[in-house]
Amino acid sequence: MLRRYRGNELPALFEAVSFSLEHLQPWMPWASIEPLEASLAGFIEQAVTQFDRAEGFNYALWSKEASALVGGAGLHSSLGPGRIEIGYWVRDGWLRRGIASAAARALTATAFSMPTIEEVHIHCDVANLASAAVPRKLGFRLLQIVDSEITAPNETGRTAEWVVDREEWLAGAATTA
Ligand SMILES: CC(C)(COP(=O)(O)OP(=O)(O)OC[C@H]1O[C@@H](n2cnc3c(N)ncnc32)[C@H](O)[C@@H]1OP(=O)(O)O)[C@@H](O)C(=O)NCCC(=O)NCCS
Repeated sequence: MLRRYRGNELPALFEAVSFSLEHLQPWMPWASIEPLEASLAGFIEQAVTQFDRAEGFNYALWSKEASALVGGAGLHSSLGPGRIEIGYWVRDGWLRRGIASAAARALTATAFSMPTIEEVHIHCDVANLASAAVPRKLGFRLLQIVDSEITAPNETGRTAEWVVDREEWLAGAATTA
C-alpha cells in the first residue's frame, strides 16, 4: 500500500532505513546523513508540506496489514512542466518481491491521471542494475545516458534516463490489460 506521509511515520521509517543501510548507502545519499533519525524527521516534515502544496508526492510503502514500512516511493516535479520523476527504495528483507515495480507502476498511472503530465521518468546510475530493472520491466525506454554528479559511493557519474510518454503508457496498458 502506498500512503502519503502524515507526520507520524518516524519510528517505522527510522527502523526500516536503519535496517537497510547496507544496500541503501551505496546509492542513496540521504541514507548516510547523520544523525539519521533527525534527518528522517526533517524529510517527513518536508514530505507533508510538499504534498499539501502539490509540489511533490512522497509515499511510504506499507505491507498489506500496514504492520511494516517496507519502503518509500515518490513523484518529484524537479524536471519542469509536463514531466515528473519517480524515485523508490525498498527495505531489506522485502527485496525482489516486486514491491518497487508495483509502486512505480501505480505512480506512473497516477502521474498520467494528471492531464498536464506528458512524460514519466526514472533516472538511475548506470551501475544500479536493480533500479534499472524496474523501468525496463514496466516498458519505459532508455532515453539517454548523461554525465552527472557523483552523490553516493557506488555511483559512476553516468545516469541512465528512462522515460515513458502518455501514448506509450496507454498503449502498453491496453496490451497488458
Ligand atoms: C532498486 C530497488 C528499489 C528494487 O526494489 P525491489 O522491490 O527489490 O524490485 P522488484 O522486486 O520490483 O524487482 C524489479 C526487477 O528488478 C530485478 N532486480 C531486483 N533486484 C535486483 C538486483 N539486485 N540485481 C538485478 N536485478 C534485480 C528483479 O529481478 C525484477 O525483475 P524481474 O521481475 O524481471 O525478475 C531496491 O534494490 C533498492 O531499494 N535499492 C537501493 C535503493 C535504490 O537504488 N533506489 C533507486 C535509486 S535510482
